[in-house]
Amino acid sequence: MPDRLQQLAELLSAEGFLSGQDIAKKAGISRSAVWKYIVRLRRYGYGIESRRGMGYRLAKTTDLPVPWELAKILKTSVVGKSQIIYRENIDSTQSLALRLAEKGGKIHGLVVIAEQQTSGRGRMKRKWLSPKGGVWLSVVLKPLVSLTMSTMLPFVAALAVCDAIRQSTKADATLKWPNDVMMAGKKVAGILLDMSAEADMINYVVIGIGINANVETSKLKVDRQNKPEITSIRQSIGRDVNRLHLTALVLEKLEMYYSVLEKYGSEPIIREWRARSDMLGKKVTVVQQDRTYSGVAANINEDGSLLLKTKDQEISIVSGDVIIN
Ligand code: BTN
Repeated sequence: MPDRLQQLAELLSAEGFLSGQDIAKKAGISRSAVWKYIVRLRRYGYGIESRRGMGYRLAKTTDLPVPWELAKILKTSVVGKSQIIYRENIDSTQSLALRLAEKGGKIHGLVVIAEQQTSGRGRMKRKWLSPKGGVWLSVVLKPLVSLTMSTMLPFVAALAVCDAIRQSTKADATLKWPNDVMMAGKKVAGILLDMSAEADMINYVVIGIGINANVETSKLKVDRQNKPEITSIRQSIGRDVNRLHLTALVLEKLEMYYSVLEKYGSEPIIREWRARSDMLGKKVTVVQQDRTYSGVAANINEDGSLLLKTKDQEISIVSGDVIIN
């Protein structure tokens, strides 16, 4: 089905006005099928003008990260090169990516993208609200890095998202430990890592990325204690971001930082991460399931843990949520 959509999108972008009959002939489908595809293309964000006696014309291309448009602009060599799967609606891109990774085959670089998720998953088994307008995607990798080094992958992804948001919005984005991307002090994106490993060998990892892009924040209200303040790119910059370009940038930067990790280890990743974080040196509270710590966020260690200076000691924390006081 998407193949046919792609075919029609390409037909229309190659020509000016095309009559329904011509489209039907060129695509080898009926005229009523043409109409159905025009409706779907419009739903996919294409602006299609229709004029009596002249037919249809592509007035505006889509800004949705559909695979065939991504393929035209994506400058990567692995991520998104073997396959990009796009769904208008899915339970969770992470769950589909995990199922496909488990099946095996050519999964290194596989990307699953959805317009909407009905059961999006967040860190610590939380729900991740994923209405239309966001960027919800999962990337499968078969990393060469060791199991210990794999703790760096969420940092790699957070860096990629932070840089991609900065580049595509020209606005500031920062990082908050462990891997939240923030705009104006509020969470705009999160990273989820799932992996399958045996002994010290990683079979595959699935990196889930959720960006509240063109979303109304009222649709993102979460109901829990210590909930982070949430924002979206739309809310933060007062306009929509082009999600096709944002997604391409995220995938390109993910591949770039990932190859830095493979070649040079965690040091440059942590260095870049620190440079984008504004929480270091600040008073924070770290909330874990059964306890909280207060102190100054002194540093991020080479293994990605947070070095917290409390009143009487220095502790390294491996998981939790940080509230900047
Ligand atoms: C977090 O809790 O901060 C991480 C959120 C990760 C959400 C993304 S959206 C795409 C992928 N599919 C999911 O179900 N979750 C991740």
